[in-house]
Amino acid sequence: MITSYSEVPLTSFANLPDMSSFPPYREVCRLAAEDPAMFAQFREIPTYRWVVSSMLNGEGRDHHEVLQARGFDFSFFERIRDLDRIGAPTLATYPIAGAVAPQTMRYVKVMSDVERLFGSLDGKSVIEIGVGFGGQCAVLSRAFAIARYTLVDLPEPLMLARRYLETLGVANVSYATLDELAPTNRYDLAISNFALSEIARRYQIEYAQRVLQRAEAGYLLWNSKQMREMRAWHVRLYGCDQIYAEEMCGLVPGAHILEPAWLAPSDREFEIDLMAWGTRPNPDGP
Ligand SMILES: C[S@@+](CC[C@H](N)C(=O)[O-])C[C@H]1O[C@@H](n2cnc3c(N)ncnc32)[C@H](O)[C@@H]1O
Repeated sequence: MITSYSEVPLTSFANLPDMSSFPPYREVCRLAAEDPAMFAQFREIPTYRWVVSSMLNGEGRDHHEVLQARGFDFSFFERIRDLDRIGAPTLATYPIAGAVAPQTMRYVKVMSDVERLFGSLDGKSVIEIGVGFGGQCAVLSRAFAIARYTLVDLPEPLMLARRYLETLGVANVSYATLDELAPTNRYDLAISNFALSEIARRYQIEYAQRVLQRAEAGYLLWNSKQMREMRAWHVRLYGCDQIYAEEMCGLVPGAHILEPAWLAPSDREFEIDLMAWGTRPNPDGP
């Protein structure tokens, strides 16, 4: 059963170069989790890179600029250098942060957003839907003493995230597929970045009921424009349209789309939406 477009063989996308010789995404995740040689270089494997290691416009330099404008304490990057020593990502060099994978820069910008919007996550219960290799979890776990971080994804990406987070020694994490989630659980914060936005409607509804509506607060990034451009393809594959950010706001009490000032310029250009709820009464501004 295909639940999201990341599982569809790359050759289904007419506008992509022929990548048919690469194994499909879930198989790459499984191999990277099991084979030390694959694990050592998984972040640049083309199939994996296409699904998870998003190529950031301008290598996320504007994310670094946002952090700088906020007066972010860049010594934090010394606490996360080891994250990019796994999986051999290509690093970019930033004026203050130094050599960092652009994706890690994005995870740190998200961490800063989360802190401004919701305050400290010390002692909190966090759930993330569509976790990639666990990079966001690793960054947040280095910043806060999180009580429980639940990673939800398909089985093979979870195998890889487990290997990545165990290698880094990240504690207090648990792993679950949608079916394994206890329906009565409650969470302090739900996160999903470019993941819930890519999943077929029936699964989006299940996630809304089993996760979003059971979370006090939420931070969700939607690649809305990109998914709208794929609408015809999506409807053909699943027989119905997806849920987009505005409709999802209607399913989660208090949820709304934040002002674009929260986004880095390249994300605004890409028409990304940031949906949130449960923010603290007087959050720091963007
Ligand atoms: C574009 S990646 C984003 C990864 C990560 N959030 C990040 O920002 O780097 C999409 C993620 O959604 C996951 N995914 C795909 N189908 C899913 C499903 N049905 N339930 C949960 N996660 C899913 C993929 O395995 C992948 O980890």
